[in-house]
Amino acid sequence: MRLSASLSFAALALASFTAQSQVSPKAQLATPQVSQTPPMGWNSWNYFADKVDDKGIRAAADQLVATGMKDAGYVYVNIDDTWEGERDASGVLHPNAKFPDMKALAGYVHSKGLKIGIYSSPGPKTCGGYEGSLGHEEQDARMYAEWGIDYLKYDMCSFIPAVMMKQAPNDKSEQMRIMHAAYAKMDKALKATGRPIVYSFCQYGWDAVWEWGPSVGANLWRTTGDITPEWGRIYELLSQQEGLAAYAGPGHWNDPDMLEVGNGRLSLAENRTHFSMWAMLAAPLLAGNDLPNMKPEIKAILTNREVIAIDQDPLGRQGSRVYSDGEVEVWTRPLTGGALAIAVINVGDNRYATHPFHLNLRRLGLNGKLTGKDLWTGKSVELTDNMPLELPSHDVLLVRLDQPKGHIQ
Ligand code: GLA
Repeated sequence: MRLSASLSFAALALASFTAQSQVSPKAQLATPQVSQTPPMGWNSWNYFADKVDDKGIRAAADQLVATGMKDAGYVYVNIDDTWEGERDASGVLHPNAKFPDMKALAGYVHSKGLKIGIYSSPGPKTCGGYEGSLGHEEQDARMYAEWGIDYLKYDMCSFIPAVMMKQAPNDKSEQMRIMHAAYAKMDKALKATGRPIVYSFCQYGWDAVWEWGPSVGANLWRTTGDITPEWGRIYELLSQQEGLAAYAGPGHWNDPDMLEVGNGRLSLAENRTHFSMWAMLAAPLLAGNDLPNMKPEIKAILTNREVIAIDQDPLGRQGSRVYSDGEVEVWTRPLTGGALAIAVINVGDNRYATHPFHLNLRRLGLNGKLTGKDLWTGKSVELTDNMPLELPSHDVLLVRLDQPKGHIQ
């Protein structure tokens, strides 16, 4: 019984994958493009996890407006895992008691000029063990559109053991093909609704998702496992983005996971560096902190317009690490109009280990005396070759050069 159900799912998935390549150009024309710059907003998971509820989502929406975050560009209010209840006899998935009326909630979020996101899995269960979308993809997509959902995070989780490993226990490449088909299936279902819905892949970078994700509708894709609010993990995720810059661009972005700014015990320098580097990476900026209790210094980081402008630069080219010198790293990101962002970070635990660091402009393809803006002090800064820089541990110097003469793009 189980085996035949699995086999018929595989056949269905393959059929939908084949059909998708024939149908999608027309469907794509009909659906306005989303995420031309990396999506910005807030997601419930990093701080609230399973404590998320209707009240908390409304409060987050209120706070995005009250704090000025909405005006700074944060528009998506995303409900992560643990909203799901049971399916009824017709297969319709109902939210659990924490979310009495999803359509009314979406209406509330929209009334604030914001957009709303939701979460599901291609598997039978989500990562939190709640109901997933397996076998109900079209039905769920239609329901999201009917509620007014604008964003879906689709998290692989139980799909691995329940479908991939069950259907192709000893065949890794067949498992990957099954995974592609499952993501393509939901893409087709979302497009068929005619509603513009940002499609966020969460399968932890498996099978180099940056290579095939965009062809099956991904607007963003997680490149790694989960973030935690610790410097070591944040730096690890940053390092794992090496080599991925070429895959990002308008409508399709690498996702090094949601922001932890304001969470855990991150120091102010660590929060600043985390935010700066996610902007250098053209990463989605999904805040994940407790908005009603946000400290002023955290709000100042999250609403720094000039850092956000780096992230949202319309050219959409992701930055990369140009060189490291001991524990100091130098990253650049090309911006519209020939401008350039430079980030220098001290990743060491002790500032004196690499003190004094000297900036090598030639290694960045730059020369002469360059005047830019320090985006954290707001002051003008002059960069010269071999200049000494003093950076506290885990802190960043983020500079925007509007006219980096001599820079080779
Ligand atoms: C996975 C994802 C997280 C979050 C949880 C929810 O771990 O990577 O971002 O969505 O599931 O259960």
